[in-house]
Amino acid sequence: MNIEVGVVIAATGMDVYDPTEYDEYGYTRFDNVITSMEFERLICAGGPTEGHFIRPSDRKIPQKIGFIQCVGSRSQDGRGNPYCSNICCMNTVKDTLLLCDHYPGVQASVFYMDMRAFGKGFEDLYMRSKEEGVKYVRGIPGDVVEDPETGNLILTVENTTTGKLEKHELEMLVLSQGVIPRQDGDTVRKLLTLSTTSDGFVMESHPKLKPVDAPTKGVFIAGCVESPKDVKDSVTQASAAAARASILLNAGKTKIEAITSQVDTELCNFCGICAKVCPYNAIGAPDRKAEKPPMIIQAACAGCGACAAECPQDAIQMRHFRDEQIMAQVEAIVKDDPEKHLLTFACNWCSYAGGDNAGTARLQYPTSSRLVRTMCSGRVDEKFVMHAFKLGAPMVLVSGCHFADCHYINAVHWTQKRMDRLWNKLDKLGIRVDRLQLEWISAAEGQKFAKVMRELEERVQAVTDEEIEFTKKVLAEEEEKAKKKKKPKAKAEVSV
Ligand code: FES
Repeated sequence: MNIEVGVVIAATGMDVYDPTEYDEYGYTRFDNVITSMEFERLICAGGPTEGHFIRPSDRKIPQKIGFIQCVGSRSQDGRGNPYCSNICCMNTVKDTLLLCDHYPGVQASVFYMDMRAFGKGFEDLYMRSKEEGVKYVRGIPGDVVEDPETGNLILTVENTTTGKLEKHELEMLVLSQGVIPRQDGDTVRKLLTLSTTSDGFVMESHPKLKPVDAPTKGVFIAGCVESPKDVKDSVTQASAAAARASILLNAGKTKIEAITSQVDTELCNFCGICAKVCPYNAIGAPDRKAEKPPMIIQAACAGCGACAAECPQDAIQMRHFRDEQIMAQVEAIVKDDPEKHLLTFACNWCSYAGGDNAGTARLQYPTSSRLVRTMCSGRVDEKFVMHAFKLGAPMVLVSGCHFADCHYINAVHWTQKRMDRLWNKLDKLGIRVDRLQLEWISAAEGQKFAKVMRELEERVQAVTDEEIEFTKKVLAEEEEKAKKKKKPKAKAEVSV
């Protein structure tokens, strides 16, 4: 079924972590060890026990209940996830209050590494839970064993407040499991070309300025698809996404940046690389048999330039960041005293802004650096770098956003691949590979920008005239060879 829509809001939610791999807690071995989701079902009036919290082994109401926090969250041992799941601390606080309310006199203990009660009214709730007599023990249990006679559970834990090893006998244990990205979310993510951060949640367009926009135009995100969050934050984000979506819908038309790609149909050899590298699926694959060149959807193109940099035929150009324009900047920089200058390709959003940050913070760094701005480091073509070396640049720096921060989904991955190729090429040609540097510098890292510039200045000074002359000669020869191989093709009119 096809449905025509103006915008899409992705609110596909999350899954919960399965604690089976934490075998020391005995989730699969002991009946009386349950997860926080199972606790919810047991204590819920509409649940299987009609709200009676009974232990599975003998259906008795337990009097001593323990909660272990951060199961599958904030883990550094290769199991679970390294991030904080955000909601588990307050969920446990709420659960202990429910228990105290349903069963006065019940003894609840919470084993934690940090209690995070940062939201509005959360600290009050935490204090109330303590006042109700809930014991908070700072320490994560290392081991749980079952007493086969009683079905009780014995926990061993190092209380990090007192520094003592403690044993706790409990009738029931609740594992406060973390939150994970939807395990079946790949189809939606691929369909909407949503990229994910290293933890698997969907990445927003900008964490501060566009927190509910996906990098793909017309797509918005809300709730746990973006990161673990509670009901209040999910509702807030959903309202924001709906408001952002209605702006687009009510406008009836959309404005796009003028920086988009164009295909030169005469130069295209229908290889389809551009369609593969486009992070936005904005390029329709070419048809070699029908000699149909790739078709660029201008409204979907975000202007990263990865396609232009990867096209082996130079058949794609970026408006305002055309090859000739960038080459002209490179030539202007190396025109006078090239050996004294550090040529830096800096992406607009992070590294260039990092340079600005260094400037406004009045940080000192050498004046020898010369910046060429590109929208994304993914736009830096191999030939720009080689051209700079051929003209006598002692060093070239390519700089972009940190991997998860690239403003064009995963265009920065192509930067890394291209750099690997370039280092290989330089090595084969006998050119010192460390004359080409790659740095990830964010907009807030003015300090890092200045530090990198200072360090590279020293390296620029260390490049000898002989090295520069050798590089020029080798690359000039290579260029000649390449020219002979390549059949000249007439430049034709550019079509969109
Ligand atoms: Fe900075 Fe892509 S936008 S590297």
